[in-house]
Amino acid sequence: MLDQLEKLYTNACNEIETATSAPALQDWESRYIGRNGEIKVLLRSVGQLPAEQRAAFGKRANEIRDELTALHSRREELIRQRELAHSFESGEIDVTLPGRPTPMGGIHPANQTLREITEIWADMGFQVFRTREVEDDETNFELLNIPQHHPARDMWDTFHTTTPGVILRTHTSPGQIHAMRHFAPGPIRVILPGMCYRYEQISTRKEIQFNQVEGLAVGTNIRLSDLKGTMTSFLHRMLGEDKKVRFRSSYFPFTEPSMEVDVECIICGGQGCSVCKYSGWLEVAGCGMVHPVVLRNGGYDPATHSGFAFGMGPERITMLKHDIKDIRYFWGNDLRFLEQF
Ligand code: DAH
Repeated sequence: MLDQLEKLYTNACNEIETATSAPALQDWESRYIGRNGEIKVLLRSVGQLPAEQRAAFGKRANEIRDELTALHSRREELIRQRELAHSFESGEIDVTLPGRPTPMGGIHPANQTLREITEIWADMGFQVFRTREVEDDETNFELLNIPQHHPARDMWDTFHTTTPGVILRTHTSPGQIHAMRHFAPGPIRVILPGMCYRYEQISTRKEIQFNQVEGLAVGTNIRLSDLKGTMTSFLHRMLGEDKKVRFRSSYFPFTEPSMEVDVECIICGGQGCSVCKYSGWLEVAGCGMVHPVVLRNGGYDPATHSGFAFGMGPERITMLKHDIKDIRYFWGNDLRFLEQF
């Protein structure tokens, strides 16, 4: 039986040379090394051998099977290469055809605006300071001069977590407290960009999540005129040097005085259109001088230090710039929308 085995090996080695196509090689494989191939058949009859010869026979049979398997893979690769070369030569594969384009991702329009905003503030000496999206009630409200049950809380519909006192931040303003506590008693020039959450009825103008960019400057000699000048420079760079900017008095609990900033409508140039609701002005940010209570909560003495703060919505600015009528597009993940940017 050992002779039979050696003969099988010689035959298999010779025969594989004649296998020049994939089907022929497959025949060879099932004939010799397949599940019902000759080696398996021989191995099955190992019981007929005298007991002392069985081990040697089994060992040799396994060696031969391994060698033939290796031979098979080499042959398979050779045939594949030959077939490929053949199809190139016969022109079956047209290597001059252009490739299929891979779709490229792009930067989300909200992030494009965020980057633009960040770059301008960075040029003016403001660094990015990142803080958390999951906040406590105290930092999001109380330390910003908005006590429990204060009617001003109605301005921010809040998502609460199952842990009492832990909420999703409704604005980036609590970042002011984190930044002040980080830098006090030194000077501060930071912007705090990031996602905010509000328990809103979703509509064309309101989303439950959106970005804000907060800004904060604290020092020993910061005045309202600094805020107005800095804000005006920013808006000129962001929306156009020729745009008029105006400050309207307003109310926020964490600033005193508080203002809202309007820019001459970038769509109609102040003539009046549907985007500016025929007023000629677009509201782009809230701002003011940091309230003494907030300064104190951040670790600064309001007798020696003052500061300004502002908050703006990059999605809103993007909507104004591109005349986007529905804020829901931003998180709708519709490629037809996103691909336009
Ligand atoms: N946190 C305000 C909001 O979400 C925006 C804001 C207004 C931020 C005035 C400020 C500010 O820092 O001074 O509506």
